[in-house]
Amino acid sequence: MSSQSLNKDQSQKRLLKTLRGEVVDRPPIWLMRQAGRYLPEYRKTRKQARDFLDLCYTPDLAVEVTLQPLRRFDLDAAILFADILLIPDALGQNVAFKEGEGPVLEPVTSAEELQALKLDNVATHLAPIMETLRGLSKALPSHVTLIGFAGSPWTVATYMVNGRGSPDQRATRIFAHKDSVGFQALIDLVTDATISYLRAQIDAGAEVIQLFDSWAAHMPDPQFKRWSIEPTARIVAALNESHPGVPVIGFPRGAGAGALRYVAETGINAVGLDTGVPLEWARDELQSKLPVQGNLDPFALVAGGDALRDETERQLKTLGNGSHIFNLGHGIVPETPPEHVGALVDQVTSWRR
Ligand code: CP3
Repeated sequence: MSSQSLNKDQSQKRLLKTLRGEVVDRPPIWLMRQAGRYLPEYRKTRKQARDFLDLCYTPDLAVEVTLQPLRRFDLDAAILFADILLIPDALGQNVAFKEGEGPVLEPVTSAEELQALKLDNVATHLAPIMETLRGLSKALPSHVTLIGFAGSPWTVATYMVNGRGSPDQRATRIFAHKDSVGFQALIDLVTDATISYLRAQIDAGAEVIQLFDSWAAHMPDPQFKRWSIEPTARIVAALNESHPGVPVIGFPRGAGAGALRYVAETGINAVGLDTGVPLEWARDELQSKLPVQGNLDPFALVAGGDALRDETERQLKTLGNGSHIFNLGHGIVPETPPEHVGALVDQVTSWRR
């Protein structure tokens, strides 16, 4: 067996089996942002890079930070260390991560600015990410699934138009209402870039793909359909065609009851639930159709103790007997004590159906 194929025996992988509809001994567990600032070893490695983007584009360092949480905790998956904003960066938009400020982009607000963005360099620009995936594919133990990811075009576009995160994505929503033809061109460009990026990720070893639609909330139904569901459906169809059998997890954060339509119309294989989704509703309306992932409150993980134990038990009792991937309802926050993550993982991995 070549070293390349070490991680390829998929029979031991709880996450992959769950995504294919098999019932395993307990729900697989991984956590959004499982690599990151809550870990002292991450903060140390981060200092070796010039800035956050440099960390993403340096395969040795990106492999190292991806593996850090797996050395501490018995997780069922590793998620590629990268960022959803590598796509605008690869398209030629100016992207920077400012300390304490989050991402800052040169906003795209006109057809002219959109024309300056080019698909041509995307593959070359993102080649280091594929090297990270190949490194991970060799390094991971055989029961661990390797997850690749991208942002959904809508969520990526909100940063591209607005220039930074905003609570209501107002600049993007106004742009989309005012000039739907222009905005469609932006969405199409991001969708095309995302399809080739994710195909390359799978070729480099990603076994599952997650699409983060972190800003899917607040949209009227026709907008949600056009800007979130349709591009997601196009990505899923393209991946199914080129790489049949690779599951896609969709995470329409904040979509509420819109998740029903999202599940019915995108073709995703599993749905990520944000913290606000009621568990019984998710069990009856969603888990009856496909595996669900989520949705422990990241702040229960900060609190720890009885609150964490009780919330985790509630999750397992309500969803754990069906197709369930244990996760948070959004990413781990930096103030999370690593011991609380250890306690959570122990509780989930010792639970049995
Ligand atoms: O461990 C993992 O989950 C994998 C790595 C990962 C990162 N970002 C690393 C990161 C993943 C999957 C993402 C996705 C991402 N990035 C999303 C979707 C998920 C979500 O949180 O809603 C979004 C919206 C982004 C864009 C982004 N990147 C923002 C808004 C920020 C700043 C906010 C923050 O938490 O600092 C980032 C920076 C970022 N991405 C960090 C990490 C570890 C922190 C950077 C640092 O070390 O300073």
